[in-house]
Amino acid sequence: MIVRPLLPADLPQVEEIERRAMPAPWSAAQVRAEIEAANGFALVAICGGTLGGYAFFRTCLPECELLHLVVAPEWRRRRVATALLDQALAGLAAQGCTTCFLEVRASNEAARQLYTRAGFVQTGRRKHYYSQPVEDALLLTRDMQPAREEHE
Ligand SMILES: CC(C)(COP(=O)(O)OP(=O)(O)OC[C@H]1O[C@@H](n2cnc3c(N)ncnc32)[C@H](O)[C@@H]1OP(=O)(O)O)[C@@H](O)C(=O)NCCC(=O)NCCS
Repeated sequence: MIVRPLLPADLPQVEEIERRAMPAPWSAAQVRAEIEAANGFALVAICGGTLGGYAFFRTCLPECELLHLVVAPEWRRRRVATALLDQALAGLAAQGCTTCFLEVRASNEAARQLYTRAGFVQTGRRKHYYSQPVEDALLLTRDMQPAREEHE
């Protein structure tokens, strides 16, 4: 598996996975906006020569937020999301981020376990945050290792 920055040429494969794997898929315009956002940070995982997953973050130093993380169904439970998270958090720490936030549906056990393993802890709950179906969001936070000073 190779993890690398998301490129505009990846857009069709991201859209295809969104349509296939997500009940409320991001539109092509939403994906394009994230690619073009000045404070956007997005990675893809290339698995067996195809796009197996992707993660979109936004930075607002010294904070960052995970907006979207999806692994194609056929590539799940092979540590693709873990690799995306590990590499993204290392890259974001190198940019100066010290805290990462995300929201997750309370019923999303797979994602909650993934994030717990990755060092996120619950720091809040937003009542009825999601629609279709209406559900609480859990706010998760992870402290990040600050990038080392070069002379250390
Ligand atoms: C959640 C998601 C990103 C996980 O991707 P993944 O590549 O399968 O995750 P990993 O293989 O890195 O899993 C790491 C750990 O997370 C937990 N985990 C992942 N999927 C799980 C599942 N379906 N059930 C229970 N635990 C799960 C396990 O602890 C797993 O370690 P293990 O396989 O050794 O038991 C993927 O299921 C997905 O794309 N879901 C739909 C989109 C989504 O919910 N995104 C998150 C929104 S906040």
